[in-house]
Amino acid sequence: MRMRNKYRKPTSFRFNAGSRCTLSIVVWGLVGCILLVHLYSIIRQRNEVDGDIQIRANQYHLMRELEEVEAGGYQIPPPKGRRSPRAAKRRPKKPTTLIEEFLDENSQIRHLFFPDLRTAIDPRKEKEEDTDRLYYYPGRVWLDTDGNPIQAHGGGILYAKRLGKYYWYGENKDGPTYHAHKRGAARVDVIGVSCYSSTDLWTWKNEGIVLAGEETNSTHDLYTLNVLERPKVIYNDRTGKYVMWMHIDDANYTKASAGVAVSDFPTGPFEYLYSISPHGFDSRDMTVFKDDDGTAYLIYSSEDNSELHIGPLTYNYLDVTNVMRRILVGQHREAPALFKHQGTYYMITSGCTGWAPNEALVHAAESVMGPWETMENPCIGGNKVSRDATFFSQSTFVVPVAGIPGLFIFMADRWNPAELRDSRYVWLPLRVGGAADRPLEYSFGFPLWSRVSIFWHRRWRLPGGWSHYI
Ligand SMILES: *[C@@H]1O[C@H](CO)[C@@H](O)[C@H](O)[C@H]1NC(C)=O
Ligand SMILES: *[C@@H]1O[C@H](CO)[C@@H](O)[C@H](O)[C@H]1NC(C)=O
Repeated sequence: MRMRNKYRKPTSFRFNAGSRCTLSIVVWGLVGCILLVHLYSIIRQRNEVDGDIQIRANQYHLMRELEEVEAGGYQIPPPKGRRSPRAAKRRPKKPTTLIEEFLDENSQIRHLFFPDLRTAIDPRKEKEEDTDRLYYYPGRVWLDTDGNPIQAHGGGILYAKRLGKYYWYGENKDGPTYHAHKRGAARVDVIGVSCYSSTDLWTWKNEGIVLAGEETNSTHDLYTLNVLERPKVIYNDRTGKYVMWMHIDDANYTKASAGVAVSDFPTGPFEYLYSISPHGFDSRDMTVFKDDDGTAYLIYSSEDNSELHIGPLTYNYLDVTNVMRRILVGQHREAPALFKHQGTYYMITSGCTGWAPNEALVHAAESVMGPWETMENPCIGGNKVSRDATFFSQSTFVVPVAGIPGLFIFMADRWNPAELRDSRYVWLPLRVGGAADRPLEYSFGFPLWSRVSIFWHRRWRLPGGWSHYI
């Protein structure tokens, strides 16, 4: 008690006696401290913002480069020399379209669509001064690190997080092209699924055939005389397995099934399990999409390619569940490639015209199960003919570019039906941003779909700011 009193007194005395002086020093000191801290945080924030702006500005600049509209491209050259009026009269030359030229293996301008090996993209040129390093040249032969043309058609890319590597899976079509019968489509026997690995999405190392065709057992799905197309691999975090889905068919495309294979490693070997008719339907061109929550979906062209079906896979990704929605009904689309940006789902598809190129379309949805809305042709640049032919290619996959939100790589195949093994890859920058031109047919509210744009470039590369590791 006393002690407390004793103590209290001087305190109260000092407080009272020192009066405003001490108090104001304390208060102003505090205010000063607060101001300093505030000032410091403002400066720091500004520095951070400046840094952020700097990065954004750099990315913006690089993105601007990718978004530049590069016009021109494929043209039918004027006839060489002067033809005598008489000769012209005798044999009036039928005007050809670029598509006809593209499909004509004896075309005078074939080298424009299928440049020869001398122009190949070659990662073995390691030198710094090589100005082509890391540049994509859509349509050129693309060599792997051994110097062989990459054989990964109708493919897709898996990013294996634990290994920090990208894996490109696709059809190995390195065999002779032939017609099984008069009216059959050009084909190559089933060789298997190739796998290539990379850390920069440009230098690809051949990891070999990870799922091989079956040469002797004619009742096996992978029998050489059957069809294996569009292999796609996803990783199941819950089972730790790499799961491959693919289109399995017979030479006449009457089996129309989806095949499943599984492996403990991205580089295989994959064990082939079986094929199914998903939800009891025919299934031709297909893809699989793994969402952020780990749920994966199978998307396939069905009802004789007149519509697409989408449905979630089971927990282990080895089968479909019994949930399925019909989408793009009556639109006759194939070659689906799905991706997601800021919670919206997008899909690029092609029309169904065999090996001949046609117009790509973008579809968007707020929920992966739909409803899906069809938007516009995403192609920008080149000339009209090439835009309407997806730059003479067909969609197969869309890869997100890590570190640059809204930037993706559009992967497509430039099929060469005369020599399928010499089909080329068309990779182009795909951007999500800006308002869509034609937000079609939406009847429940007004979602402002973003525009999806695929920019034509004769030559391009990824912006320096992209992070190779997700
Ligand atoms: C051939 O393949 C079928 C289907 O996979 C299988 O059931 C059969 O056992 C195989 N035959 C031989 C001889 O391996
Ligand atoms: C494919 O169709 C052709 C012509 O109709 C027929 O001759 C051939 O046997 C069929 N092949 C298969 C594998 O069904």
